[in-house]
Amino acid sequence: MVRPNLAVNVGGIHMKNPVMTASGTFGYGEAFASLFDLNRLGAIIVKGLSLKPAPGNPPPRTLETCGGMLNAIGLENVGFAAFVKEKLPFLQSLDTPIILNIYGQDLDEYAKLAERIHDLEGIAGMELNISCPNVKAGGIAFGTDPKMAFQVTKAVREKTSLPLIVKLSPNVTDIASIARSVEDAGADAVSLINTITSMAVDVETRRPRLANKVGGLSGPAIKPIALRMVWETVQAVAVPVIGIGGIMDASDALEFLIVGARAIQVGTANFVNPRATVEIAEGLKHYLVEKDMPDISQLIGSLRA
Ligand SMILES: Cc1cc2nc3c(=O)[nH]c(=O)nc-3n(C[C@H](O)[C@H](O)[C@H](O)COP(=O)(O)O)c2cc1C
Repeated sequence: MVRPNLAVNVGGIHMKNPVMTASGTFGYGEAFASLFDLNRLGAIIVKGLSLKPAPGNPPPRTLETCGGMLNAIGLENVGFAAFVKEKLPFLQSLDTPIILNIYGQDLDEYAKLAERIHDLEGIAGMELNISCPNVKAGGIAFGTDPKMAFQVTKAVREKTSLPLIVKLSPNVTDIASIARSVEDAGADAVSLINTITSMAVDVETRRPRLANKVGGLSGPAIKPIALRMVWETVQAVAVPVIGIGGIMDASDALEFLIVGARAIQVGTANFVNPRATVEIAEGLKHYLVEKDMPDISQLIGSLRA
């Protein structure tokens, strides 16, 4: 068979394959450049960026758990100005879409950051992290309330015409209603899931294992939950859905594509196998050849339910 076509378009972002890096698990890309050709990736999503530098939480802030990891990094990052000066030139030299994952403490901060990013060269789109607390609304996460999720998406939408992905929090009872809210506010795509709020205790000291007390669970343990949420969301919105959560190999990625995800992101797997992303892209190609499918669009949403 001829080489299958793996290219997908996600909300205006054209990618050579559906494999993206999940924010916060791939830094700004440079560390992986000696391991494989970064241009083989569908897209790179960089570490969550805020207007000002953020120190993150005190240690310990990560730990391994059964089937995954807990993290409470606290969105540590270099801030917009240092990102532009120190990180962006390398990213701009690549031939793969660069997507900036952004967050703020209130609507104004999100909007200001989006406006500045809009003016940068070589950015394919933004991914809005709405799993963080709205400081002006008493610390409730933007992504857990349909109204706040709408407002933050709209505030950013008004500042940019760049493709806008909104990344949903799984810490809700009805993710489809949040997805509909952000679609109504102008999102071009949704990605899900972010980490699931979790906890671990040291029984000797009887202290929480993370200094922040709670953290976010990621990795294989969350895959079945993520898959169910992606499937529900695909049925609820018309915009493309990006699947995230415990994708360690091509078979995991296939499950998300089959339930209807247009693309997928690889997170925790990058810590276990830094070449996981490109191996997944290769695995998808082999699957299409084996199943005699010339185009990945034949696979997406092909669940026989
Ligand atoms: C160490 C670490 C840091 C993360 N940082 C961010 C971040 O800055 N912004 C964001 O939206 N998600 C962040 N995430 C969430 C991941 O992008 C992803 O949604 C989550 O880990 C689930 O995917 P996985 O099971 O493949 O890791 C982080 C996850 C981990 C493990």
